[in-house]
Amino acid sequence: MPGLIPERFIDELLARVDIVDVVQPRVPLKRAGREWTACCPFHDERTPSFYVSPAKQFYHCFGCGAHGSAVRFLMEYEHLEFPDAVEELAQSVGLTVPHEGGPARQREDHTDLYALLDAAARFYQHALPESAAAKAYCKKRGLDAAIIERFRIGWAPGGWDAMKRALGSSDARTKLLEQAGMLSTGDKGKQYDRFRERLMFPILDRRGRVIAFGGRVLEGDGPKYLNSPETPLFHKGRELFALWQVRQANTKLERLIVVEGYMDVVSLHQAGVTQAVATLGTATTNEHAELLFRAAPDVFFCFDGDRAGRSAAWRALESVLPRMRDGRQAFFLFLPEGEDPDTLVRKEGRDGFEARLRNATPLSEYFYAYLSRDVNVATLDGRARLAEHAKPLLAKLPDGAFRDLMFAELEKRTGVQGAPATNAVLSRGVTSTTGAPKRTLVRSAIAMLLANPALAQEITLPYAFAGLDKPGILLLTELLDFLQERPGINTALLLERFAGREESAALQKLALTEFPGEPEALRAEFIDAFRKLAEQTTQQRLDALIRKQSESALDDAEKSELRGLLARKAQPASPL
Ligand code: UTP
Ligand code: MN
Repeated sequence: MPGLIPERFIDELLARVDIVDVVQPRVPLKRAGREWTACCPFHDERTPSFYVSPAKQFYHCFGCGAHGSAVRFLMEYEHLEFPDAVEELAQSVGLTVPHEGGPARQREDHTDLYALLDAAARFYQHALPESAAAKAYCKKRGLDAAIIERFRIGWAPGGWDAMKRALGSSDARTKLLEQAGMLSTGDKGKQYDRFRERLMFPILDRRGRVIAFGGRVLEGDGPKYLNSPETPLFHKGRELFALWQVRQANTKLERLIVVEGYMDVVSLHQAGVTQAVATLGTATTNEHAELLFRAAPDVFFCFDGDRAGRSAAWRALESVLPRMRDGRQAFFLFLPEGEDPDTLVRKEGRDGFEARLRNATPLSEYFYAYLSRDVNVATLDGRARLAEHAKPLLAKLPDGAFRDLMFAELEKRTGVQGAPATNAVLSRGVTSTTGAPKRTLVRSAIAMLLANPALAQEITLPYAFAGLDKPGILLLTELLDFLQERPGINTALLLERFAGREESAALQKLALTEFPGEPEALRAEFIDAFRKLAEQTTQQRLDALIRKQSESALDDAEKSELRGLLARKAQPASPL
């Protein structure tokens, strides 16, 4: 186990890095006043709502709500784990990542593993022309040379250890083969090739690197397809087969077509439908849905017309619901019994398949059709049942016109008014949205602190406001304490430190508050807020003592405290 990365190192790192330098090379930014802006890399949009703030050192998308520090950006954008994102940032500014309580962490360097998997793909590719059976099979399936090349389709030879002998020339290489999931272990601990006598489909990651394989038997028994196991490089719920080839074939991607099989994808590409991808023999996960919509605004799900196909389609629908922002569309295409995209596109050609896509069922229609399938909407009970099933699902839709329309449709179909209060939408400057928090003194103080964490140095201990009984006071105290202890920390990091907390979403919103004036004016406003808080504290205590005095009696200490407070009130100096 590598040791933990000390928090202080992250502080130092984020103080050195400028988030603009991190984002700019990946997402070209334009200046917008004090901030930088671009179309959001995390969702599809045509007008920019992605902002990067050099002052706060964070990014925020007003469209999809993506937000965070430079580290978070790298994690999201490059799909890195936290330690790897930290490592990459550290390297960019010439720092070495220290690790606490463990041996120095080797940067997880998978270069060897990638190289090995690439060599494995080449090994299979070379073996294909050598096998008459494999060649005949490809011919039978109608695969042409160009598509075999584009998908790097290959052949895993028979025998037990062809690959192991070819690539496992040393113990270290055999270890790598094992790590890459290319070997199986027999009863007596003997290792042999995992893939034998199979047509091999390499699975590539988003950079086109081989990370796994799927292998099809030509015929005979056993499972039709065998896939690589989960490895350090391969998590099948996160990968889409052929997304790389789709990206290569389309400069601007308007749609993706999700099908079930490797063969379906390959056939469609060969026929000229070059936006086809497949999940890897699993249901559509939430991660898939996210990936799909990040890549294209329209997603077509293509399923068999049988029961299994329909239940897979419904699962896909559930995974996309929370991602149906305005501008995105999902369609469902059900194929005739006994057909799959491969057989269909070979029969009907590209035009036939495109025609089917044009007639695909929109999500809205499929949603109500599926939920109404065994409900009699002619009866009141049936309509109530439909509403009951639909409402929690529709509640998952993000705010927007689509959500409103879906609820309107529910009302039309059932007579039940459905739309719950809309989810709070962030708006520029955080004011005036449904459910937006009231502006209180405590909130303003926190917002100012988030806008400029260095302001914490203006407030000294003991805090005059500490006894104030108001919501948010504890959080304010905590923020100040934290900032006293860690001067120099920026907004993004402050938010990250409170990320796991219940108050995190509220803090995130407050951090978007703009204070357009000069820093000096903000400082004055900040000090004034704390002066008012101190006054309120005095007043609250005074009221309490006076109430107690009238109800029972004060002891000596309380009496002297009361006299002190009254005297202090008489001379309105600023007791910070
Ligand atoms: P299909 O059986 O529909 O595959 O399974 P296919 O691609 O159409 O294959 P052909 O046309 O018979 O050659 C769909 C997908 O489910 C996964 C594979 O990813 C396959 O492409 N699968 C299927 C497995 O992982 N294992 C299996 O045994 C079968
Ligand atoms: Mn098939």
